[in-house]
Amino acid sequence: MARLLHLSDLHVVATGTRASGVLDTNALLRAAIDTLSERLTSIGPIDAVLVTGDISDDGSADSYAVAKAQLARLGLPVFVIPGNHDRRAAFREAFADTVPMPDDGPLDWVVEVLGTRIVGLDTLVEGQGGGRLRAQSLNHLAEALDQSEGRPVVVALHHPPLRTGIRFMDAIGLEDAKALEGILRRHDGPLRVLAGHVHGVYHGMLGGHPVVTAPSTCSAFALDQREEAPVGFMLGPLGFAVLDTAPGGVWAACSLAMGDGPYGF
Ligand SMILES: [Fe+2]
Repeated sequence: MARLLHLSDLHVVATGTRASGVLDTNALLRAAIDTLSERLTSIGPIDAVLVTGDISDDGSADSYAVAKAQLARLGLPVFVIPGNHDRRAAFREAFADTVPMPDDGPLDWVVEVLGTRIVGLDTLVEGQGGGRLRAQSLNHLAEALDQSEGRPVVVALHHPPLRTGIRFMDAIGLEDAKALEGILRRHDGPLRVLAGHVHGVYHGMLGGHPVVTAPSTCSAFALDQREEAPVGFMLGPLGFAVLDTAPGGVWAACSLAMGDGPYGF
């Protein structure tokens, strides 16, 4: 079984620029990889890194080169799916040598890591924040599940099929969660859905399977469900997650910043 490092929403920008004009996401990713490199010995062996979208903030080739170089420092296989900020052509160009993506159409893929089947789904609709799963992607998932033969499955997509209650994020959520639900409900093997997009940790269920979202390496959204909630991001908390796909294994969300300690009980 596999242990995966789950990262999300890196929002890397072209060198010399900042995300939304303020956030130095490239420095934040560098710091996150520094922290992870130090903590990998205590976190325990990791077999692969899975990044659930918004690798880039601006979709530039330069941003993908920066992200790829930083992720490579972990010395692990890296699997990526696009988010709403990504641009398909530049994404494909950057990661075609590391992820088995098709030459055209949605960037859906399937890989096996130590007996765990990871299915990557492309929800990107270029030019809008909300996500959609096309019929082609839904068929890709159904086929990958049919061939899973009881092995643990991880379904990775950027837009979670969940409502957080944060209105400005729910407004750009996944459009067709019902279609996804129908496919997941027919699958009775061990399966988890991993997503990003909401820059925080949320848990729900879809079609009888757990859905979780990872924190971002660069920003967070407050859980503010008021109608007048201000639209925008916060500077933290930042984090990552670790998934153990063995039976009884857990998905654990961790903060990148630790407080002082440990203090004895
Ligand atoms: Fe994001």
